[in-house]
Amino acid sequence: TGKFENILVEKRGEKKNVGLIQLNRPKALNALCDALMKELGTALDEFENDPEVGCVVLTGSEKAFAAGADIKEMQGLTFSQTFGGGFLNHWNRLASNKKPVIAAVNGFALGGGCEVAMMCDIIYAGEKAKFGQPEILLGTIPGAGGTQRLPRAIGKSKAMEMALTGDMINAADAEKAGLVSKVFPPGELVDAAVKTAEKIASHSKLIVAMCKESVNTSYELTLNEGMHFEKRIFHATFATKDRKEGMTAFVEKRPANFTDE
Ligand code: CAA
Repeated sequence: TGKFENILVEKRGEKKNVGLIQLNRPKALNALCDALMKELGTALDEFENDPEVGCVVLTGSEKAFAAGADIKEMQGLTFSQTFGGGFLNHWNRLASNKKPVIAAVNGFALGGGCEVAMMCDIIYAGEKAKFGQPEILLGTIPGAGGTQRLPRAIGKSKAMEMALTGDMINAADAEKAGLVSKVFPPGELVDAAVKTAEKIASHSKLIVAMCKESVNTSYELTLNEGMHFEKRIFHATFATKDRKEGMTAFVEKRPANFTDE
């Protein structure tokens, strides 16, 4: 769509039920300037409101998923501007998306780029992907989840090492550490992510949203509270047509026909 300057947006998949967002600021290695992040929010809103779309794939270029927040935009900022203006607060739009988002990461995912990937629900990586939190080299610290989501994803020692040294890790290490779920040759990455997204989009969108919310809640609650929350949502699925249809289809040995109700 022509209205965006920093991203490309299209629908993919046999049933056009996957929203694909490609970060497209090649001259700056997809540095996440304010305008880009606002466009990303708008594109997410549109896919969230599109009843055809069941899953979103977020990708960059083969060289860079995103090289971080825009350092040129940040260079002159003061404490009062960042504090008073809630600098980067709106980035959280991505983390609160109801529909699942798969990050397909080729090339650099650094600083805010790594943080944006971690706001997604699943990360697939190309073999040459590099993940890092190099903010320490700029005299600052990660500001969009690098000190919070990264230790939850890969544990304290590895996260601390990355954040304190600024060193990058490659795709194989990111997979071994659990940051990434699968690694692909760079040219196959986006298609693989779209294929997984199509699978997710073939399920009930209502139940998928409930499942995503329940998994995400595991990061917020104690085990007992989390189990309670999960049980409540599980019970709630029994109030839906799709739960009835899914189980009936199984018993009748036919594919389920979900209506997202
Ligand atoms: N912000 C703004 N511009 C950036 C950028 C960024 N984060 N990363 C790269 N660019 C620009 C470069 O300035 C350069 O522009 P010019 O051609 O106008 O000079 C262009 O993109 C190409 O970059 P390089 O010439 O540096 O490319 P390279 O291949 O030699 O190096 C790189 C690639 C290692 C990724 C290097 O660009 C780099 O280190 N980038 C910065 C990474 C970084 O520090 N990210 C963290 C940002 S802070 C942050 O994200 C805060 C937070 O937690 C939210």
